[in-house]
Amino acid sequence: MVRKALLPVAGLGTRSLPATKAVPKELLPLVDKPAIQYLVEECARAGLDDVLFVTSAGKATLEDHFDRLPGLEAALASKGKDEELALVTGLADLATIHSVRQPEPLGLGHAVLMGAEHIGDDSFAVLLGDDIVDPGTPFLERMVATHERTGRPVIALMEVEDEAVPLYGIATVEATDVDDEFLITDLVEKPTVHEAPSNLAIIGRYVLPGSIFAVLRDTPPGRGDEIQLTDALRTLAHDEPLVGIRVDAPRYDIGDKLGFVTATVSLAAERPDLGPDLLAWLRRFLAEQDRIGAGVGMSGERDQGPTT
Ligand code: G1P
Repeated sequence: MVRKALLPVAGLGTRSLPATKAVPKELLPLVDKPAIQYLVEECARAGLDDVLFVTSAGKATLEDHFDRLPGLEAALASKGKDEELALVTGLADLATIHSVRQPEPLGLGHAVLMGAEHIGDDSFAVLLGDDIVDPGTPFLERMVATHERTGRPVIALMEVEDEAVPLYGIATVEATDVDDEFLITDLVEKPTVHEAPSNLAIIGRYVLPGSIFAVLRDTPPGRGDEIQLTDALRTLAHDEPLVGIRVDAPRYDIGDKLGFVTATVSLAAERPDLGPDLLAWLRRFLAEQDRIGAGVGMSGERDQGPTT
């Protein structure tokens, strides 16, 4: 049974500056929940109740978010704010949170290696905080079940456009009889479009055996002079193919500013308490934008607006 998850949360969040100057990027809210809460809830839904944060200096508030806060709880209880109280206390029950420091930013592979002692020989999931998978889909559950069925490392894959290929680890795959399931025979970290064996990109969900740690210890720095998880997985894939599962749910890269905004709008639109009003407003907003965009200029010609 897979019970453990490792969440690398040591990054500086430079892609999200200035918002992340004083606030860890994992605490930026998507609607009313910090991004990290979506990940820990995803773990809990998949039965992973032991969550290890790989952190760095200035990230202690991440653990606080999942801790009990007796002062706040007492204040909410005395005011009869039961709904708010449930929102706060429920967080501590999602999972047992552990943490370990990554002293230097030496790469994703190095961050995962920091979990070796806590994880031991167990299989575990890795969830990257920039990737939010729509909470309505049991995708991580499927990955865990696939690992339990095959005994192989399982990696989430997504088809990306050519322009995006150099941003991801890219897989060489063979088809299987199972829908959206592949055998991965090779991987390459952030190739050029010409070097890339496919358009199937790794997105930030992995279910790995404890044996990955021994491989990571022997993995030299790769792209960007960092120890790459992709390179260690490549070593495993050369011994025996890994399993790739194509994500069949919306996925957002919230480290990207537009990705963050679209995640916020989509997640709010799905919420029964916010969705109907938000969608009604969006329709009015878009109609107004169309009206302005189609506006007639001083010369009487239709204003074409920006061409991009
Ligand atoms: C990491 C991995 C890369 C993967 C990506 C998914 O890169 O190294 O293989 O495709 O996450 O988001 P990063 O985005 O941290 O540079």
